[in-house]
Amino acid sequence: MQHQKILVLDFGGQYNQLIARRVRDLGVFCELKPSDMTAAEVRAYAPVGIIFTGGPNSVYEAGAPHIDEEILALGIPVLGICYGAQLIAHLMGGEVARADMGEYGKCTLLIEKEAPMSEGVPYESVCWMSHTDRITALPAGFEVLAKTAACPIAMYGDAARNIYGIQFHPEVVHTRYGTAFLKNFLYNICNAAGDWTMAGFVQEQVEKIRSAVGEGRVLCAMSGGVDSAVAATLVYRAIGKNLTCVFVDNGLHRKGEPEEIMRIFKDGLGMDLIKADAQDLFLDALAGVTDPEQKRKIIGELFIRVFEKEAAKLGKIDYLVQGTIYPDVIESGKGKSATIKSHHNVGGLPADIGFRGIVEPLRDLFKDEVRKVGTELGLPDGVVWRQPCPGPALAIRIMGDVTREKLATVREADAIFREEIERAGLSRDIWQYFAVLTDSKTVGVQGDSRTYENVIALRAITSVDGMTADWARIPFEVLERVSTRITGEVKHANRVVYDITSKPPATIEWE
Ligand code: XMP
Repeated sequence: MQHQKILVLDFGGQYNQLIARRVRDLGVFCELKPSDMTAAEVRAYAPVGIIFTGGPNSVYEAGAPHIDEEILALGIPVLGICYGAQLIAHLMGGEVARADMGEYGKCTLLIEKEAPMSEGVPYESVCWMSHTDRITALPAGFEVLAKTAACPIAMYGDAARNIYGIQFHPEVVHTRYGTAFLKNFLYNICNAAGDWTMAGFVQEQVEKIRSAVGEGRVLCAMSGGVDSAVAATLVYRAIGKNLTCVFVDNGLHRKGEPEEIMRIFKDGLGMDLIKADAQDLFLDALAGVTDPEQKRKIIGELFIRVFEKEAAKLGKIDYLVQGTIYPDVIESGKGKSATIKSHHNVGGLPADIGFRGIVEPLRDLFKDEVRKVGTELGLPDGVVWRQPCPGPALAIRIMGDVTREKLATVREADAIFREEIERAGLSRDIWQYFAVLTDSKTVGVQGDSRTYENVIALRAITSVDGMTADWARIPFEVLERVSTRITGEVKHANRVVYDITSKPPATIEWE
C-alpha cells in the first residue's frame, strides 16, 4: 500500500527530526530529506505537502542553503518553519533582515487573522521562538496571519498558492498550540487522509528491507534491549530465516534474561537465534579486575571476539542489523537519515566480518516510537518496556572484582527489587532501577547470630534521556518490602541502603 507522504526538507536545524516525528504522530507518513533535492525529484517523490525546516544560517548570506525555486511552483502546499519561512519570503520577493534584538524562548503569539492554519488556536497563546533574523516585508500575495511583540510577521500565508511560513517552532512542546498548527497544515491545507500508522511503518520497512537485502544473509547481535529486539524482529518479519541473531551469554545478565530472550525470540517467534555460551570466558577474563574502565574494556573486547567467532561459523554474511535509533544518530554525529547504509563501524562491532552494509530500520525513530513498533510487531510488554541496561550489565554493579558468588548475590537482590517495583506499578515511571553490590561489609544480627555481610544499595532514577537524572521518590512501603525481602532471601546480604543522589554529581551507574 502506498501512503501519502509529507516531505521535510532539512536546512540543518536542531529540531528537524522532531518535525518529522510530529507529522507521523498526526497520522501522515513523513521523511526528512536533504534540502538540495531538485523540483523534479520532489515531483517524483509526490508528497502531499512539503515542510522547510529551520536552520542556523541567514538566507541573505553567501553559501546559505537555498532550494530549487521551482519547488515553490509545483502546486504542492509548502510550510516553512523559522529559516524555512524566511527562505520562502526571501525567494519570492519579500525581505529578511537581522533584527535589532533576537527573540529566544517563550513569546506571546497573537492571531492577526483567522485562517485554516489557525483553526482551534485562541487569539493569544504561548509560542517558542529562536531567531535573530526576521521577515520585514512579505512577497506580493501573502498576508500576515499572526505576530508577536518583537516579530510582526510570526505567521504568514497565501491561501491561493497554499504557501505558509511560521517564524516560531510548532514542533517543540513549549509552543502550546504547535501541534494544532501542524495538524491544520496537514489536514486543512494539504487535505491529508491521515493514512499512516505503526502498521504502515512496519509494512514499509519490511518492503524496504526486502528490496535492499534481497537474498542476502543478515546477522544481528541481539542484546535483549528494546532497540536490538525490535530491529531484529522487523528484519525477521522481512526476510525470515535469512536472518541469524547471536546472543552472547556473558554470564553478566540480570536474572532470567538469557532464558527469556531464547524463549521469546527462538521458541516464540521462531527466529534463528544462536546463544553463544561464553560465561566462563568472560568471568575468567574478569577475575581479579577491580578497575571499572578495565572491566568495561575487557567485556567490550571479548564481546567482539565471541561475536566474530560465531559469525565466522556462519559463512558469508552480507548485512549486519543494528538497532540504532535517532538519538544515537545525533549523538554519534552520523547525520542524514537512511534505512540502509554502506558499511561503517558503529558501536564497536567488527569492521572486518566482510559484510556489504548495515541495516538500521529504526534510525529515524525516537525511543517511544520504537516501543510502539515493538508492540505493533507483537512483542511482549516485558521486551517493549524493558529498562535500559548497560552492556557490561552486572559487572559494573558489583564494586570491586567480579566473582560468581557476588554475581549470584547482586542478581537475586536485583530481581527482588525489580519484582517489587513492577508489583507496585511503578516500572513505567522510573527510568532505571537496579541493585548494586557494594564492597562494604557491615555487622548484622540475623536469627540469633551475628553476621558480617554485604551492603546492597538500591538505585532508582527518573530521567528523560539518561543525561541527567533524579532519584526516584519510591514510597517507603515499597522500599521496606524490598529491604525485608533482600535481607531475608538473598545470601550474603544483611543491609540495604537507598541511593539518594542525583546526576550530576553522581552518575546513574555506580561504576
Ligand atoms: P551513567 O552511569 O553514565 O549512565 O550516568 C547513563 C546511562 O548509560 C548507561 N550506561 C551504559 N550503557 N554501556 C552501555 O551500553 C556502558 O558501558 C554503560 N555505562 C552506563 C546507564 O545504564 C544509563 O542508562
